[in-house]
Amino acid sequence: MSYPERIPRNRTYLMCPPEHYTVEYAINPWMDTTIAVDAALALKQWDLLRTTLDDLGHTIHVLEPVAGLPDMVYAANGAFSVDGRVYGARFKYPQRSAEAVAHQGFYRTAGWSLTIGEQVNEGEGDFAYLPEAYGGLVLAGYGFRTDPAAHAEAQEVLGRPVLSLHLVDPAFYHLDTALAALDDRHIAYYPGAFSPASQQVLAQLFPDAVLADRADAEAFGLNLVSDGRHVILNTEAVAMGDKVREAGYLPVHVELTELKRGGGSVKCAVAELRH
Ligand code: ARG
Repeated sequence: MSYPERIPRNRTYLMCPPEHYTVEYAINPWMDTTIAVDAALALKQWDLLRTTLDDLGHTIHVLEPVAGLPDMVYAANGAFSVDGRVYGARFKYPQRSAEAVAHQGFYRTAGWSLTIGEQVNEGEGDFAYLPEAYGGLVLAGYGFRTDPAAHAEAQEVLGRPVLSLHLVDPAFYHLDTALAALDDRHIAYYPGAFSPASQQVLAQLFPDAVLADRADAEAFGLNLVSDGRHVILNTEAVAMGDKVREAGYLPVHVELTELKRGGGSVKCAVAELRH
């Protein structure tokens, strides 16, 4: 099958180095507090991800890491921005709640229009944006972290339709572990992470989606960052790389073994700033 050329678009991202990264509490099934994290390796791998995005021509802002916030490297969770408006996170677990404040500081200093969610929501962990699908559509997950009430709240803040999708498998507790935007209108997802009704909704709206299987999702193959052409995903997700290549994209693999131990990979470490 042949596809139109996949065109990249320059992006602006926010990342936070894993300087204080540890796995000292367990708030998702991937976290095992009995195995120590290799902190130096985590930093090295994170830096290679940053360099990879930089080499592709994207702009990266770096958020100052805060001691005592070991999950701050998962910068995707701090907020969700669409067309210059920012919907700020409110974390589900107290261990991460102070991260929201650090993100707020970043957006305020940079002059963004910020509204902090009153409802529990974990930013881009549970929200994805497709500017060219149906005139601009937000996909939103609930079931483990983000409260479904946050979806309506985000719609009011962002002025974009928000489509609620029900996550049902605890291994895929954030939307970005089960679904990814490949470009401005196309997605990849693992159907089994969603309720039967949500699967039906996704099949109806995205008949041309790249479908992942459970092994792809377990390899964090959906936790990817795409600029519309280059799809950055971790080295373990080989089969997923093949699937996006078959769909006309260029997979770029980076090693992120240490971040997986906290329950995240490429996408979790990168928040897109949409001006
Ligand atoms: N340990 C973090 C947590 O459980 C991982 C967050 C992963 N981030 C993401 N966007 N999926 O909250």
